[in-house]
Amino acid sequence: MKKIFIATLSAFALLATGCSGEKNPIVKSPDGRIEVSLCHTDSATTYSVSVDGHQLISPSRLGFDAEGLRPSPSAKVSVSFSEADTTWRQPWGENKELRDHYNEMAFAIAESDLTMTIRVRAFDDGIAFRYEWRASRDSVIIMDELTEFAFAESATTWSIPADFDSYEKEYRKLPVDSVENANTPFTFMTDSTRVYGSIHEAALYNFPEMTLKADSGSRRILRAALAPMPDGVKAVVPNSFQTPWRTIQIGHSATDLINSAMILNLNEPCKIADVSWIKPQKYVGIWWGMHLGTQTWTMGPRHGATTENAIKYIDFAKANNIQGVLFEGWNEGWENWGGNQHFDYIKAYADFDIDYVAAYARKNNIELWAHDETGGNIPEFESVLDSAFAYYKSLGIHTVKTGYAGGFKGGYYHHSQYGVRHYQKVVETAARYQIMIDAHEPIKETGIRRTWPNMMTREGARGMEWNAWSAGNTADYLCVLPFVRLLSGPMDYTPGIFDINYRRAKADKGRIEWNGPNGDCCIKTTLARQIANWVIIYSPLQMAADQIENYEDQPGFQFFRDFNADCDWSSALQGEIGEYIVVARRAGETFYVGAGTNSHPRELTLPLSFLKKGVTYEATVYGDDMASGNPEKLSIITKKVSCDDELPIHMMATGGQAITFIPVK
Ligand code: NOJ
Ligand code: CA
Repeated sequence: MKKIFIATLSAFALLATGCSGEKNPIVKSPDGRIEVSLCHTDSATTYSVSVDGHQLISPSRLGFDAEGLRPSPSAKVSVSFSEADTTWRQPWGENKELRDHYNEMAFAIAESDLTMTIRVRAFDDGIAFRYEWRASRDSVIIMDELTEFAFAESATTWSIPADFDSYEKEYRKLPVDSVENANTPFTFMTDSTRVYGSIHEAALYNFPEMTLKADSGSRRILRAALAPMPDGVKAVVPNSFQTPWRTIQIGHSATDLINSAMILNLNEPCKIADVSWIKPQKYVGIWWGMHLGTQTWTMGPRHGATTENAIKYIDFAKANNIQGVLFEGWNEGWENWGGNQHFDYIKAYADFDIDYVAAYARKNNIELWAHDETGGNIPEFESVLDSAFAYYKSLGIHTVKTGYAGGFKGGYYHHSQYGVRHYQKVVETAARYQIMIDAHEPIKETGIRRTWPNMMTREGARGMEWNAWSAGNTADYLCVLPFVRLLSGPMDYTPGIFDINYRRAKADKGRIEWNGPNGDCCIKTTLARQIANWVIIYSPLQMAADQIENYEDQPGFQFFRDFNADCDWSSALQGEIGEYIVVARRAGETFYVGAGTNSHPRELTLPLSFLKKGVTYEATVYGDDMASGNPEKLSIITKKVSCDDELPIHMMATGGQAITFIPVK
């Protein structure tokens, strides 16, 4: 059978068949360091990638297992080249201004009933390719994608295992030869040439997510594995279609990967005409208490989302320079979570006077959020989407946190084509009602925030909640996160727990541990690291996730008061995957630095050359208290500095350091 023959043909065999001229076109990055070449033969089309003259990806298969998408040997090929160098602005982001600079090659394979173009872009910070086709049939049924990533040399990799329903997994550091399957971003460092890279995808629409699966013959070859539908089909798409980009970010240091905007550059420009209502913000909410078990989502004696609590949170937000408030458990239906998954997206619980709370929030200029947990009941959520969003808009609500904690009805995977379409439908519907989205249990970020900037942030990794009811997220995990999940885009990690040993919750004798027993749970970092995470883990909607009582009389909370989620510029300054990370951001005239280490103490030096020349700043350093070694204690010092200075970063094991730089007037 042809299908089996194609799937098992080794990369070496492909090389041996040879290709030249038009059938072997090459495109180089603008700086000439990265090169992608295609090789088209009668039996297959492959690509390879080299960096600084060394092969990174050896000839790797391209194509699909799909009727109508298999070109015949007689197909004509043609190739065209182009280049682009533009600068564009986004309404919000790590960097508001970005440069998009690449060389492109479009390799077209044409015959009477099929045109298939493989469009390849080479950037200085990576490569990308996608498939575009026009086929002479009503629709195309994708049974499998054959794209391979064949590593030319051994590499160390960091990834989570592939799971079409969840990204909430621990990271594994594995030699590429030992990877059986993985999700993306799939980050690697080649062992001898020390090239850093990350395989991912960009502009994921109307298609399942791509995971990676080891080739049965050679473990160094990873193949695209698409999330299937219940009938085994991967996707049904129109006869004229373009796939998401398959991407490999490439850097010469680990921080190069973080500083790359390639994923955003591969997405289409903004489709929302008026973006004035899309605003980054800081927020607090009724949330952590439920995960700790001191409050409930359901109505009862410990109900969190009551009118009384809402007023307290709104007052707290207003007094602390925080723009938004979230109340989980505001709506009826939580009794059904994990059961029939019926939630009411409009009807508030009787003890949450939504009209009063919304009016109070509006009067105080605070953004009230809605929370829509679906439990995975997509048909029901979709049936009320318009009416619910119209209702929220009428209340002055501009932000909705969605949740998909539960299996999708009908046996669909979260990350299947069905799921991707649903998540997109929510984003586009929300845009019509001027609503920003924060999605939990989401589809992975692939840069669509450029096109749909109301898609603000999402979870898509083990967030803070895991610390409430599991072994939690270690400092080592937090040192991998920026180099893997965060390469795809913002994350609503919900950082900033100050009561790191849950003293208040543990003193609450009536607490009913949720998802427990959780007696040993705690935050696995120092307090200073909790503060630093507000800078390290970028999100345009940034939460102070603890219960507000735990911020009272805490000098360290001044950092969050001074913090601005509406960032203008960012740079990852130092770091190694799984070891440590130092990030600087600027919002307006104020700079912020966040540093974190893994389970090892660390001393670093921070040159302040990123600050503006000629400006004196007051630096406030929120660090680990090295003298006491107590993870619950902070050392806070202030100092006048300029761009010619440097500051020491002292970090205890699992520790961190956060700094604000406020210009002295
Ligand atoms: C999981 C989300 O990640 C969490 O933030 C939320 O509180 C629960 N689901 C309930 O919706
Ligand atoms: Ca979650």
